[in-house]
Amino acid sequence: MKWLLGRSVADKELAFQNEEKEKRAAELLIANKELAFQNEEKEKRAAELLIANKELAFQNEEKEKRAAELVKSHLDLKNNLLDTVKVIAKAVEMRDPYTAGHQQRVAEIACAIAGEMGLDEDQITGVRLGATIHNIGTLQIPAEILSRPGKLTDVEYQLVQTHAGLGYDILKDVRFPWPLADIAHQHHERMDGSGYPQGLNGVQICLEARIVAVADVAGAMSSHRPYRASLGIQAALDEIKTKRGILYDPEVVDACLKAYEGKRFSV
Ligand SMILES: [Fe+2]
Repeated sequence: MKWLLGRSVADKELAFQNEEKEKRAAELLIANKELAFQNEEKEKRAAELLIANKELAFQNEEKEKRAAELVKSHLDLKNNLLDTVKVIAKAVEMRDPYTAGHQQRVAEIACAIAGEMGLDEDQITGVRLGATIHNIGTLQIPAEILSRPGKLTDVEYQLVQTHAGLGYDILKDVRFPWPLADIAHQHHERMDGSGYPQGLNGVQICLEARIVAVADVAGAMSSHRPYRASLGIQAALDEIKTKRGILYDPEVVDACLKAYEGKRFSV
């Protein structure tokens, strides 16, 4: 009887253990299914991410292509503008070789000054182009007045002075990425307001025009004119030194003197 009782307890224990095992197995099955589902979700997500990445890479590639195209068209536009300036300079040259030679010389000096002042490449390009055509307004002044030896009459001098405004009128409607029209307009303005045509002073005159103004004086004084021989570079440098801060931007004058000493332009 005791034995039977013991057996029944052992069977119950076994049955209980089996039940627990089955429960555990069922739980494991559920957990495995859950894990499998999660893995499936992860794989789905990974596949979606892969597609999204590919889409992003494609979009980036398209953006880069577009950016490269924009850079190219910007460069093409700039080159077209450079060609336009060259054509204008050529037109001046054909009519008046003196003015053309002078503008090239001023461009060389102005670039040397701009370089000395640490202007960036694009600004230096603007200075070079502006200097190259700064006297474009003289196209509308009778050649015999421009090249006539001897002193001009007051009326003739007033007529010559109109070249700054005329140059502005010629250039103002072309949308250059540099202030070429302002350079032509303001290259005879002076720091103390005594220049022409608008009587601007100080920083009312754009930096590029302040540079071309100094280069213009240095270039003009040190070259032969129809009405006088060259005064020499020393006289030109003395003039800008004496009028430093009065007629000419002091920083531009200092840069010009340094550029000359450093042989950054020839005379
Ligand atoms: Fe001029």
